[in-house]
Amino acid sequence: MSNKFQGLNSKLIHTGERPDPTTGAVVPPIYQTTTFAFPSNESTLDLMEGRSSGHIYTRFGNPNFGIAEAKIAQIEGSEAALLLASGMAAISTAILTCARAGEHIISHADIYGGSFGLLHSLFPNFGIETSFVDFTSIDAIKEAIRPNTKIILLESPSNPTLRIYDIRQLANLAHEHNIQLIVDNTFSVLNQKPLELGADIVVHSCTKYMNGHSDVMAGAIVGTQAFIKECSDVYRKLGGNLNGFDAWLLIRGMKTLGLRMQRHNENALRVAEYLHKHPRIESVHYPGLPSHPQHKLAADQMTGFGGVLSVELQGGQQEVNQFLNRVELFTRAVSLGSVESLITQPVAAVHHSVPEFYRTIGGIKPNLIRLSIGIEDSADIIADLEQALN
Ligand SMILES: Cc1ncc(COP(=O)(O)O)c(C=O)c1O
Repeated sequence: MSNKFQGLNSKLIHTGERPDPTTGAVVPPIYQTTTFAFPSNESTLDLMEGRSSGHIYTRFGNPNFGIAEAKIAQIEGSEAALLLASGMAAISTAILTCARAGEHIISHADIYGGSFGLLHSLFPNFGIETSFVDFTSIDAIKEAIRPNTKIILLESPSNPTLRIYDIRQLANLAHEHNIQLIVDNTFSVLNQKPLELGADIVVHSCTKYMNGHSDVMAGAIVGTQAFIKECSDVYRKLGGNLNGFDAWLLIRGMKTLGLRMQRHNENALRVAEYLHKHPRIESVHYPGLPSHPQHKLAADQMTGFGGVLSVELQGGQQEVNQFLNRVELFTRAVSLGSVESLITQPVAAVHHSVPEFYRTIGGIKPNLIRLSIGIEDSADIIADLEQALN
């Protein structure tokens, strides 16, 4: 079905689905079931041993997952995708598929706070260690490589400082040392194709842009058929599955992903340009601004700059509180990538548990404020910031 269409929006709408053969329903039914009937007892073993295809139990897969997985694989240009219960389920499952006790990961401090916690506080209990280094320095990464390094995990743009890391260069380095490069592409879905740039595996929090309506938690791993099969074996054991209804909502959200991302990109650029000139803003971190130190690299590896930006506000905690308490169109909340605009102070929320040392090397300052620009009218977004700042 999908191969008939060249355009991104046509693919997002049609990939993985067609009118329901039983009823003619244009929209796929919601398979809100935990278990699936075996047609005969003889068929049970065939299904269990993979000689025939079909569904067994929702922790192993569900028709609604299959539709979302086909769309996700399509937009990342990959052979396969696996849908999971959250971005964290995707990240932990992908890592546990690649690394064993006694092995080592390299990442950077300015990643999503939850990923930092997983690598810094939980995985060491199971013998998997992580070095956090400055990813703008290729030499720092080279120095961190050990004989047991298995994974380089990166986010570009980074969260919440919007630094850009060179995916092609890091993929080459990783492959010289037999290391897998995993890219968390949550911020840049449709705007960046890490697999085309050389990454081995892509992970997503589909809770964000992919679904786009702040009403579903989901995640995905994207890679080769063989790797997704391995992940799927790990995931069945860990149990990080979604459910039919949330997958159905995600499918619906994905149909407008192309339109939404275009609008997020446009709105965020306008807001970044406005804030860049504002006297109360010390600096704006947005890769779409020519003043961003890695704007050229961003323009080279991205086709749009996304809907998230961060700013450093003049003053201290009192000024930050005043600004965040005055916003009306923006909602003070964690998360990002939804139709509505959200605003948060990373050190108070998402990066609260990141130790001071790592916040400093990651550039996560107390006066840093992260904005997720929604798809409202940009004039209203800017007017709200204007009244809150002045
Ligand atoms: C870049 C990034 N990756 C992963 C996650 C984790 O996703 P989830 O909350 O769906 O588990 C988040 C959540 O904010 C994120 O921003």
